[in-house]
Amino acid sequence: MQTRIYKVDPWAPDPIVIEEAAGLLASGEVVAFPTETVYGLGANGLDSRAVKKIFAAKGRPADNPLILHIAEPETLHEIVADIPERAQILIRRFWPGPLTMVLPKKPEIPSEVTAGLSTVAVRMPAHPVAKALIAAAGVPVAAPSANISGRPSPTRAEHVWEDLAGKIAAVVDGGQCGIGLESTVIDLSGEVPYLLRPGGITLEQLEAVLGRVEVAGEVAASQTPKAPGMKYRHYAPKAPLWIVNAETTTQTLSLLNRLVEEDLARNEKVAVIASAETVAALEEKARPGLILRSLGSRNEPAVAAQNLFAILREVDKAGADVIYAEAVGTAGIGAAVMNRLYKAAGGRVINPDPEPSERPGRAK
Ligand code: TXA
Ligand code: MG
Repeated sequence: MQTRIYKVDPWAPDPIVIEEAAGLLASGEVVAFPTETVYGLGANGLDSRAVKKIFAAKGRPADNPLILHIAEPETLHEIVADIPERAQILIRRFWPGPLTMVLPKKPEIPSEVTAGLSTVAVRMPAHPVAKALIAAAGVPVAAPSANISGRPSPTRAEHVWEDLAGKIAAVVDGGQCGIGLESTVIDLSGEVPYLLRPGGITLEQLEAVLGRVEVAGEVAASQTPKAPGMKYRHYAPKAPLWIVNAETTTQTLSLLNRLVEEDLARNEKVAVIASAETVAALEEKARPGLILRSLGSRNEPAVAAQNLFAILREVDKAGADVIYAEAVGTAGIGAAVMNRLYKAAGGRVINPDPEPSERPGRAK
């Protein structure tokens, strides 16, 4: 399949181009488009055959449900069976924006979208291109992140192209996504609001309007997770990634220096993803073979969020054999950054204490 590219102004997309892309959606094709979080891979959410094409293009397991994207809050009535008061509060406060709500679904929503669940995830994005495209399509648009399943989510049209060229009808290129991490997913179908995935709207923001919010823990592959997507390894670069987690920045730096020296001595290509401050300190010593990437200043988790996925793709391209990532603070959107890093690492963390011989093997 020939994949078309529509380049648009992210703030004022050309309506003629949007109509053309929406026409593809209406005719059952799959189209990638920018949102304020990451690029989505959209299809008509009321058309089972179109939705199946999303799963095929991404190589996504059929038991992982999709988010329906809408252009107006009023459309929610057509999708969900009940809109509780707390959903209305969240809509008023956070829509359009990076917040997805899980609610009991209406029977007419295809089971392919919800992977057979009785609930459906819905979000109203704020990005002008996403809004215009969904409005022009005139249907709820089912859209997961527009990456091959398991890879880092795309924050630029080039990332979508790398993963999906030839497999989808079109990519609407609206430049770089502002937030850089996927939406927050909150389940409102039960007694207590349940945070399934941290994201652009922080736990602190949710608690400020809802009061108590339960937070989903990590889920073993054998368990039935609340959000089906939680059991899969995600956002993963090709090389093994380790989170380096020390109490102090001095400890982090000495640990990183030691790990890097050991790996370079074995002729491995090492990548370090860290705060601008740590990167600056590591740069003081010239070390060929060391790939350094800054997530931005330690005090700016929003910048780390914006950069993370692109950097994970970059270190892959640079041919890293092993990747170390410095842990970031978990206040605000830092929690979402750490959540994605843990998933990318498959849970691998290095703490400062063990002697080199006691450290777990770093084989792939
Ligand atoms: O920011 C985002 O949310 C992006 C953009 C494109 O909107 N989309 C996105 O979709 O990240 P995806 O498919 O990559 O992640 C959706 C997550 C998955 O973890 C999925 O399991 C969960 O939402 N989910 C979807 N429907 C659900 C449901 N009915 N109950 C629980 N979890 C659900
Ligand atoms: Mg995804």
